[in-house]
Amino acid sequence: MSAPGPRVWDVPTRAFHWSLVLLVAAQYASGEFGWPSMEWHYRCGYATLALLVFRVLWGFAGSQTSRFGDFLRGPRAVLRYLVALRRGEAPRAAGHNPLGGWSVVAMLASIALQAASGLFASDDISEDGPLVARVSAATVALMTRVHAWNRYVLLALIVLHLGAIAAYALRGTNLVAPMWTGRAREGAAPPLRFAPAWLALVLGVLAAGAVWALVAWGEAG
Ligand code: HEM
Ligand code: HEM
Repeated sequence: MSAPGPRVWDVPTRAFHWSLVLLVAAQYASGEFGWPSMEWHYRCGYATLALLVFRVLWGFAGSQTSRFGDFLRGPRAVLRYLVALRRGEAPRAAGHNPLGGWSVVAMLASIALQAASGLFASDDISEDGPLVARVSAATVALMTRVHAWNRYVLLALIVLHLGAIAAYALRGTNLVAPMWTGRAREGAAPPLRFAPAWLALVLGVLAAGAVWALVAWGEAG
């Protein structure tokens, strides 16, 4: 086995990713099939929302490879990367590559839309999101439609995500191991800045508190 390479992903970002995978799977299981129950759809939904709020905060205050400002590049950089990729000459990125960066934002936006619309969704029988009582019937109808349609958009983005990871693997680049261990397999990364764990903890508690307060306010209505 080769020696572990440089650290690229911090613990909070990795914990965020693998928790998100479990929670989104739970959301499809409970939303589509009622398994184990809609009760769990709400619980895991709130956890998903808290994770997202945390990830957005971490995108501004977290470690270098997790910051939006670090991995969101302009159209020219994306185009240059695509051309290099076609030629098989794409440079290894320490973090998200210029194309992957935008797919991350698309996935985060779609999950945010799904979770936010769920707060106002209703099946008009027994299931009401916690903020339904706070808005008009027209808003509930719109949000229910968004929640029903965006689930396919999100599913398509996840399929693309897994397809891209498989395509890189076929070309000899394993992206999954770094997202699991935090370390790149090979190569030297430029010196990267990592944010302290206590900051992740503070932001995580803030995110969970904000979601809890919002749901409590909705349910008191
Ligand atoms: C419900 C399914 C999934 C969702 C919603 C999802 C979402 C995401 C998101 C939001 C990121 C960006 C991470 C960040 O910077 O915060 C990401 C990155 C990543 N995900 Fe997933 N993911 C899913 C499933 C998976 C699975 C099953 C794998 C492994 C087979 C995987 C492997 C990766 C890898 C390797 C990266 C880093 C890509 C890079 O190097 O730029 N994901 N994913
Ligand atoms: C990533 C997050 C989420 C995913 C993937 C998801 C997925 C789904 C799916 C697939 C359904 C079934 C839709 C249908 O049969 O038309 C559903 C229904 C529902 N979800 Fe979510 N959901 C998420 C988050 C949330 C959240 C945060 C809430 C509220 C706290 C919520 C509340 C509801 C409600 C009330 C329904 C029933 C309304 C209906 O049948 O149209 N969901 N969800």
